[in-house]
Amino acid sequence: MGRFDGKGVVVTGASSGMGHRIALDFAAEGATVVAVARRAERLAQLVEEARDLPGGIVAYAGDVTVAETTDGMIDKAVELAGHLDVLVNNAGIMDEFKPVAEVTDELWDKVMDVNLVGPMKAMRKAVQVMLGQENGGNIVNVASIGGIRGARAGAAYTASKHAVVGLTENTAFMYAPNHIRCNVVCPGGVNTEVMNGQTEMSQLGVGRVMAGLDTSIPSGKVEDISSAVLYIASDDAKFMTGATVVIDGGVSCN
Ligand SMILES: NC(=O)c1ccc[n+]([C@@H]2O[C@H](COP(=O)([O-])OP(=O)(O)OC[C@H]3O[C@@H](n4cnc5c(N)ncnc54)[C@H](OP(=O)(O)O)[C@@H]3O)[C@@H](O)[C@H]2O)c1
Repeated sequence: MGRFDGKGVVVTGASSGMGHRIALDFAAEGATVVAVARRAERLAQLVEEARDLPGGIVAYAGDVTVAETTDGMIDKAVELAGHLDVLVNNAGIMDEFKPVAEVTDELWDKVMDVNLVGPMKAMRKAVQVMLGQENGGNIVNVASIGGIRGARAGAAYTASKHAVVGLTENTAFMYAPNHIRCNVVCPGGVNTEVMNGQTEMSQLGVGRVMAGLDTSIPSGKVEDISSAVLYIASDDAKFMTGATVVIDGGVSCN
């Protein structure tokens, strides 16, 4: 028996890093997982990896900034499992560590679209579905310690992740009577592909962020975040909603 037998789960950003691990871990515990990202070939590999797991993974290629994707991925979970039990808003991008004086409109819009607008669109659709379900449902957002402190990334990333924390708390409060739980995890540094393609980093931004980092604390692993996400989405955490869960090995304690 897995904790998520028969459950319908959507995981965004499932083509690499944390989302990849989260999708596999839900499928290992019996869930039917709709795995969302833009790179279809990566998702096909993920589906293959999950072949022998008790649940299953279905690839859903799309861009989370587009409502067609965020609506479609939820519809797909309902079509496959009969209901939507868990939405994990994990897809996210970095911002080249640009402090506000260096932020272009284009960078700001791009980061906000992926990190904030996408999750809002997905939550809007998910809550509409969950309101019609007797057991409600669960939303787990992936922010960052950059969502509660200002010294871990650039201006756009920090603002987007702070907003995700606020969006989480508002949603938890509004729908608590409807058995819809909404929580947010805030990882510290985790070894993934998140820095790939960050080729125009701000010298000022990198210098300021690195100067404050305690390098004696090792990076986290994707399973460190995934295990927390599954716990939060499970009935073991049924009284937890509106929580901001920091998972950073102690980095933000200093
Ligand atoms: N790694 C860290 O140190 C760290 C720390 C704190 C918080 N986080 C957060 O953790 C989350 C996962 O990041 P990660 O570290 O696992 O990074 P990653 O390996 O780069 O994974 C990011 C995922 O997001 C997807 N994605 C990006 N833009 C997308 C879009 N427009 N539409 C759909 N999918 C999109 C990517 O897939 P495609 O490119 O295929 O679309 C990929 O699957 C992010 O929200 C990130 O901000 C990471």
